[in-house]
Amino acid sequence: MDKPEPSSSQIIDSAAAKKRGIWGSKLGFIFAAAGSAIGLGNIWRFPTEAANNGGAAFLLIYIACVLFIGMPVMLAELTLGRHTRKDPVGAIRSVVPRGLWWLAGALGVITGLAILSYYSVVAGWTLGYVVKTVSHTFTPQVDPAKLFGAFAGSWWQEILYHAIFMALCVLVVIGGVKAGIERWSKILMPTLLVVLLLLVVRSVTLPGASSGLSFYLSPDFSKINMKVVVAALGQAFFSLSLGMGAMITYGSYLSKKDNLVTSAAWVSGADSAIAILAGLMVLPALALAGIQPGVDQGGAGLIFAVLPRVFSQMPWQPYGGIIFGAAFFILLALAALTSAVSLLEVVTAYLVDEKGWKRRRATTLVGAVSFAIGIPSALSLGAVGWLSSMVSLQGKEIGFLDLMDKLFGKLSLTFGSLLICLIVAWAWGSDKARKEVQNGNPRFVLGGLWVFLLKYVCPVAIMTILVYLVVDPSVIR
Ligand code: PHE
Repeated sequence: MDKPEPSSSQIIDSAAAKKRGIWGSKLGFIFAAAGSAIGLGNIWRFPTEAANNGGAAFLLIYIACVLFIGMPVMLAELTLGRHTRKDPVGAIRSVVPRGLWWLAGALGVITGLAILSYYSVVAGWTLGYVVKTVSHTFTPQVDPAKLFGAFAGSWWQEILYHAIFMALCVLVVIGGVKAGIERWSKILMPTLLVVLLLLVVRSVTLPGASSGLSFYLSPDFSKINMKVVVAALGQAFFSLSLGMGAMITYGSYLSKKDNLVTSAAWVSGADSAIAILAGLMVLPALALAGIQPGVDQGGAGLIFAVLPRVFSQMPWQPYGGIIFGAAFFILLALAALTSAVSLLEVVTAYLVDEKGWKRRRATTLVGAVSFAIGIPSALSLGAVGWLSSMVSLQGKEIGFLDLMDKLFGKLSLTFGSLLICLIVAWAWGSDKARKEVQNGNPRFVLGGLWVFLLKYVCPVAIMTILVYLVVDPSVIR
């Protein structure tokens, strides 16, 4: 029998696979992209934002932001990446060679570097907490908030764990696409889900859980204001890894046969499910930690002050606490690793593809620079006084780490996502984008809706928020 002729997409795929690597399978991609999305954003940032922004009101707006803005933007990024098979700067240049649009890619590369710098600091905390849990530091008698304060105020521990995490990240990225990223995510995500579910069960049955639960689940519509919307939209972009090219880069390793729509839906669905569960784990435990839900407690240390309380309430103490605590922080560190790897990957792919650098050299240098930029963040939770109060927004002191998160994790990702919408829907053209999605999904039933959201709804919504932010910057608190 004759061998069937390979289709043109197969030829392109195999050439691409040889040159820059391609995902081993569709599932491999979903796990890797979910690995990028699921991380500290879900478990550290989401519950903190929800606690500070009206609980259920935040949850509601968050879900709307994911559905109507996040998912369309994710599909846009994947489409652009697969079509061009390039890093963000190269991808944008090859669909719109004219003008300054490529600067959006450059902004993404800078944002990746900046987010990685403080992301690694927080991920370092989870490493430190593995050690603390195993050495049985969290007895029911100690106050976890005080303990976190002492930990964050110790300069050498901050720097040490930040360095260890960044080094791990560099090692994974040097290993290359498939071997490095895919292998981890497949085992990690399901295990994280199981541990999370068990902790949720414990948390919602804790003494005093009901106040936190109703704060999180029964919406008080009077709490919805511009601050909540800004926070929810920013959180959606951060959590879904959008607005800086991570999904462009990941999409660039996808094959023409893959269905981009279902991929985007799986990734956003899994990401949102984990975030919502994380809220369900943290907020009911606030009361036990002596924190009143709804009162602005700001701090980046929230989950580190609350969760040890949950662990010390697990059955079969002290072992239950140690086992669950350690498992949780190890898994969180690994989930953070698969996200941080995607941040590092964006910057690395840019240097490799655009500047012709060797992968190893690019990765090591980017890791080192990001580590250095992260040092002020690491020292900003008590170790160095003036770094803890860089600016004051309506009476609230904001430290260096928080400032970086607001500037890059919120503002820059929001602006970047706007640019992605404009580039894909307008500058490149929605017809061409739609055709690219149709590879692997010939019918593309929701095509019309996607184009409408991407062309009008997303840009108008995001622009409104950005204009609002210029008029009243304090809503970014
Ligand atoms: N989405 C990741 C998280 O939730 C963080 C991230 C943001 C990764 C942007 C890549 C790009 O932890």
